[in-house]
Amino acid sequence: MVLGVLGSGSGSNMQAILDAIDAGSLDARVALVLSDCPGAWILERARQRGIEAGVIDCRGFRTKFPEEAQVETAVRLKDAGVEFVCLAGFLRLVKRPLLDAFPGRILNIHPALLPAFPGLESWKQALDAGVAETGCTVHLVDEGMDTGPILLQERVPVLPGDSPESLHARIQAAEHRLYPAALTYLSARSGNGS
Ligand code: GAR
Repeated sequence: MVLGVLGSGSGSNMQAILDAIDAGSLDARVALVLSDCPGAWILERARQRGIEAGVIDCRGFRTKFPEEAQVETAVRLKDAGVEFVCLAGFLRLVKRPLLDAFPGRILNIHPALLPAFPGLESWKQALDAGVAETGCTVHLVDEGMDTGPILLQERVPVLPGDSPESLHARIQAAEHRLYPAALTYLSARSGNGS
């Protein structure tokens, strides 16, 4: 599987994918990493690994992913030979031009048991709701916010005394298992990415 990764932050999920590749448990290669945030640590992680990394020019929009930027992103991913696109903490909504370029081949990791708690800071939503259990989800991306078909989920308990930070850390530990596992599952399901 040739992967492209889009992220806005630290890139710990991308690191988990790279670690699984190194360990031989995931047969894949990360060809390109792109971020809408020039200072995002995910870009530095990629560069340190010798992976091509670049910034998405979102034309000054703070949260929108403008159509021109999506077309450019699709072209860059295609030029790099990418087969599957992994959203890893990418905080803009992907729409038609990019979805059409990779039909059924864009994945996202979300820090909740979807369909519960879509959107931002889902671990805080879970704490505020007082649930005993939350988790994380890897799903295919469609035009909605965190609504596409679910590939895999892992449950995570909410413990007495949890803070947003402690709960998010426990969810992230699960995410780092789940994303490589979902890619392995998808690779097998799609005949090794071809
Ligand atoms: C992850 O917890 C991911 O689930 C979340 O952002 C974090 C990125 O961490 N994504 C969302 O909330 C998307 N709705 P990372 O940059 O260390 O992988």
